[in-house]
Order: sequence, then C-alpha cells, then structure tokens
Amino acid sequence: MTTLTVLPAGTTVEFAAGANLLQTLINAGLQLAGQCGGNASCGGCHLFVTEGRKTISRLTPAENAKLDTLVGVGSKSRLACQVTLGSEPVTVELLGALSG
Ligand code: FES
Repeated sequence: MTTLTVLPAGTTVEFAAGANLLQTLINAGLQLAGQCGGNASCGGCHLFVTEGRKTISRLTPAENAKLDTLVGVGSKSRLACQVTLGSEPVTVELLGALSG
C-alpha cells in the first residue's frame, strides 16, 4: 500500500497500485463534483497532481481534450477519473469549493 496525500487539508489515504484516483478519493469520503461516471466528459473531477506525476498513468486523448475546455488548467492538471495510481506516493490538490 502507498499513500495519497490530499491538499489543502493534508488528508492521507492508502491505496494499492492500479487503483483509480477518483475512486480512491470517493472511498476516503472526499466527494468530487464528477458527474459523468468517469467518462472524461464533465470535468468535475479536475484537480492538480503536485507530486508523483511520473508514477501515475499518462494523459489519454479524451482527458487531454476535456482539459482543453476547462478554466484554470495548468501543467499539473488531471481528471481524477482518468488517473490510475502507481506504486509510489502521490500528492493531489483539490480545487475550487473542495479546497476549502
Ligand atoms: S468524473 Fe467526469 S470528467 Fe471525471
């Protein structure tokens, strides 16, 4: 098991390699605004991956296309529903209302 750190609260969550990032956050009681069932079409699960980017799955064409339509996107942006976690620790930063 490896640790996912969720900013700005600093919450830590354990995950196994191969876990989906959005599902890991939901399982930890953190509700993101994703409403498309993980299809990279709503953009509600947009967050920043601030550490561990090299250990997670790469951007897919569908994810990249959706990110292009969102406001506030940066080099650390990912759609949590499209991210498969790897075997090393990851830190994410929740955005908007979720960031507190
Ligand atoms: S849940 Fe809709 S884009 Fe991720």
